[in-house]
Amino acid sequence: MTAMQKVYIYKQFERFWHWTQAILILFLAMTGFEVHDSIHLFGYENAVVYHRIAAWMLLGLIVFSVFWHITTGEWRQYIPSFSKLSAQIHYYTFGMFKGEPHPTHKTARNKLNPLQAVTYLGFKLVMAPLIVVTGMVYMFYRTIDANDMVVVSEIPLEWIAWLHTFGAYLLLMFVIIHVYMTTTGSTPLTNIKAMLTGYEELEDTEASHSVIKKEDPHEA
Ligand code: HEM
Repeated sequence: MTAMQKVYIYKQFERFWHWTQAILILFLAMTGFEVHDSIHLFGYENAVVYHRIAAWMLLGLIVFSVFWHITTGEWRQYIPSFSKLSAQIHYYTFGMFKGEPHPTHKTARNKLNPLQAVTYLGFKLVMAPLIVVTGMVYMFYRTIDANDMVVVSEIPLEWIAWLHTFGAYLLLMFVIIHVYMTTTGSTPLTNIKAMLTGYEELEDTEASHSVIKKEDPHEA
């Protein structure tokens, strides 16, 4: 049997950012779909106010997380490698159900498999900007319109609402698939526990390359 070793994979800020973002997105979905008249939880007026507050919080979080990704060099984790992408897709569609071994190995410096890297890059470069930009235009629509300063006011509000809602559906689809994928680790809760504690049990061979000391200032 291969020896297992506990490896520190997800750093403190990363875990804070991940869970705060998850909570905010779920709350924005609940309040947003109330504004959309699909569900009724807080009352329309409250939903509008709560949605705006949570949106500002998310924007603040995004600013800090972009700064963190750039300054720590963690953005490199999201550069996809296409060489093993098809092996990874094969694993999730067939191999995993037949007990085949994982085609890629996780380490602290290389923690995303090729499929995750592509998906998260899409999340960061397409889904998040779509919902944030349409949300901001939605938020400032009347101001822009009243001042008659910016061309944006000529885009009908229905289009902006439609694009924003489309972005919301994409984001919800991402969340559902993402949560399902997290259960495909060695046990259904392994990956979720790792994102909560920061530590994950990896095979010794991988672990020996990836153990990082918490006190190392470059890994904070
Ligand atoms: C920074 C991010 C976001 C901003 C700035 C934003 C902004 C807004 C604004 C201004 C509205 C119109 C209601 C109002 O006047 O307050 C709205 C509606 C809505 N938002 Fe967001 N939002 C953001 C993120 C999200 C997220 C993450 C979701 C869902 C996952 C979401 C889902 C919705 C939905 C479904 C509506 C209703 C659209 C309609 O039918 O008019 N929003 N949003």
